[in-house]
Amino acid sequence: MYDVVALGELLVDFTCVSSDGDGYPTLAAHPGGAPANYLAALSKLGAKTALMGKVGDDTFGHLLRKTLEKCGICTDGLEMDGSVFTTLAFVTLDGRGEREFAFARKPGADTCLRQEELMLHLIDEAKVFHFGSLSLTDEPVRTATQKAVSYAKEQGKLLSFDPNLRRPLWRGLDEARQQMLWGLSQADVVKISDDEADFLLGLDAEEGAKQIVERFGAKLVFVTCGAEGCVYCNANTYGKAAAPDNIRAVDTTGAGDIFGGSAMWQLLEIKKAPQELTAQELEQVARFACTAASLSTTRYGGIGAAPSYEEIVAALA
Ligand SMILES: Nc1ncnc2c1ncn2[C@@H]1O[C@H](COP(=O)(O)OP(=O)(O)O)[C@@H](O)[C@H]1O
Ligand SMILES: [Mg+2]
Repeated sequence: MYDVVALGELLVDFTCVSSDGDGYPTLAAHPGGAPANYLAALSKLGAKTALMGKVGDDTFGHLLRKTLEKCGICTDGLEMDGSVFTTLAFVTLDGRGEREFAFARKPGADTCLRQEELMLHLIDEAKVFHFGSLSLTDEPVRTATQKAVSYAKEQGKLLSFDPNLRRPLWRGLDEARQQMLWGLSQADVVKISDDEADFLLGLDAEEGAKQIVERFGAKLVFVTCGAEGCVYCNANTYGKAAAPDNIRAVDTTGAGDIFGGSAMWQLLEIKKAPQELTAQELEQVARFACTAASLSTTRYGGIGAAPSYEEIVAALA
């Protein structure tokens, strides 16, 4: 039995350590990919998780597989394909630790997952199915994602979606919007950032959260707002949670994913349908997730930045 199965990219994030006079960086490699970061947060908190995706049969693919295993994330659904290279993401940071992305992914292994390669039995054994939008940019992984989403729905699983907009990965922004809106329409639980709410709906965090519940039928929505924390909304309640104010962010890569995974872990702990959470319960979930995400920004990378339960509780106190 799994708590959460996710589908999507597992990749290497190269972050800039320093750069020379011409702007060429010295890079450090970290394991990442939004769904993998999300599962790493859950796994660190003790949840049982599995990833469905594809890496190359190359040095990085093997390293990434080992990293997941070390995190306790099941890799039965992770394909290794010798005909494509593991996806690489280059993340440069500005002075405040905010990210800029470039991808070696034309194609990258993650986009090459085919529907006939899906290990759908992993979904049978899960409570939650989580997906994002990088697996919607290109075929064949787009069709594979659509198939997994409809399968999870048929099996009555809770669906979780994080749009994670990466503009350079889309052929056009209309297509990005259309695919991400489809994701929203499928999801029970949505984690979206304020920038993405603006891009998709032309709304700020508060109005965006309300609309995703009212118009898209999501049962629970978190809109994260960077260092400001988040707003949350379900049918019962609406509110805001602040991120801790004593955080020195060095790398915000994966912060939103760690937020999503930590929030989902809390939902599984509370064992209530997301639309039934009370104002008090939701405030607790949001504060926990904000704190976990903020702690992750004090470390480099995504997967390795997921904090432990003890760290989160200490920071909340
Ligand atoms: N600079 C920061 N300082 C402290 N916490 C941060 C910072 N950036 C992000 N966070 C934490 O991470 C969460 C998600 O960040 P955000 O940037 O909104 O998501 P995403 O990574 O999806 O763009 C925030 O709600 C906050 O708790
Ligand atoms: Mg995000």
